[in-house]
Amino acid sequence: KARIFSGVQPSGTPTIGNYIGAMRGFVQLQDEYDATYCVVNQHAITVPQEPKRLKEMTRELAALYLAIGIDPNKSTIFVQSDVPAHTQSAWLILCHTGLGELERMTQYKDKAQKQEAVNAGLLAYPALMVGDIILHDAAYVPVGDDQRQHIELTRNFVDRFNNRYGDVLVKPEGIYPKAGARVMSLQDPMSKMSKSDANERGFVSMLDTPNQITKKIKSAVTDSIGEINYDKEAQPAIANLIEIYANLSDKSTDDIVQAYAGKGYGPFKTDLAELVVSVLEPIQTRYEKLLSSSELDDILHDGAIKANEQANQVLARMNKAIGIGY
Ligand code: TYM
Repeated sequence: KARIFSGVQPSGTPTIGNYIGAMRGFVQLQDEYDATYCVVNQHAITVPQEPKRLKEMTRELAALYLAIGIDPNKSTIFVQSDVPAHTQSAWLILCHTGLGELERMTQYKDKAQKQEAVNAGLLAYPALMVGDIILHDAAYVPVGDDQRQHIELTRNFVDRFNNRYGDVLVKPEGIYPKAGARVMSLQDPMSKMSKSDANERGFVSMLDTPNQITKKIKSAVTDSIGEINYDKEAQPAIANLIEIYANLSDKSTDDIVQAYAGKGYGPFKTDLAELVVSVLEPIQTRYEKLLSSSELDDILHDGAIKANEQANQVLARMNKAIGIGY
């Protein structure tokens, strides 16, 4: 089986954007691939975090991984800080990466703009992400559209490293969902849905109550056209809602447009809210149980053992190639 790897930052409760863009795919891909999923807590400290909350959110995200249906008998789940090879590889990668390459990353530029003081880790971030991916010999990486540039950077890094040192690393490819690779804010279809949005009505969190979900979807901005069409240019807000619907129902955007022809936005929003609630409710029930169980700790412990074994092998390959050691 080909190997896949992905991760999510425990920097807030994941939104339906994270679920649709990436996490739902984690579950679907675990049968076909040898999958490893990581809670990337060391990535989260590139911006300020409250220490107590960071620890809680790390465990919460691991519980959510299991609650959405990642099966620890099929996939490896672990927390980044349990596998020191990740940060160790980041140093090796930084020493083989141009400053200009990192400065070009749009995610860096966006996030830097929002910070009062920018730490060097925010710039170095993609090197740690490259490390995450290559240490697990990942051939594929399921992510949302906003990670495209980081995947490209990883591919370029692997080419450069292998050209210089021989065939040491696996070159990965991104996997993106058909609909919903870039879920937009419910309040502004021009900006990405984000778990750190100050306007809470812009996103649906995976732990929102049915009532909150329904309110947020019913108050999502639309347009004055009043007709359901899938047209990202002319009707970006409606196109966004159609993509959310398409992804969660496994229907095509065309089918949805046809089903709501001539019906207006009201009934469409009602059905969409029902769909989102029906997807999230069972996840939330499982999540509550897992969070207070020792099963979760056992799974993370086992995951760390497996992940360390795999990651240390690749780190050793890298060190040997570079000439680190004596
Ligand atoms: P993060 O934590 O910001 O997001 C986790 C995943 O969710 C996707 N995503 C979205 N997809 C669609 N619409 C949206 N509005 C949306 N917002 C977020 C992201 O694309 C991502 O797949 N750098 C990564 C974490 C990471 C990683 C890795 C991923 C660290 N190391 C190695 C893959 C492989 C990040 O910040 O994701």
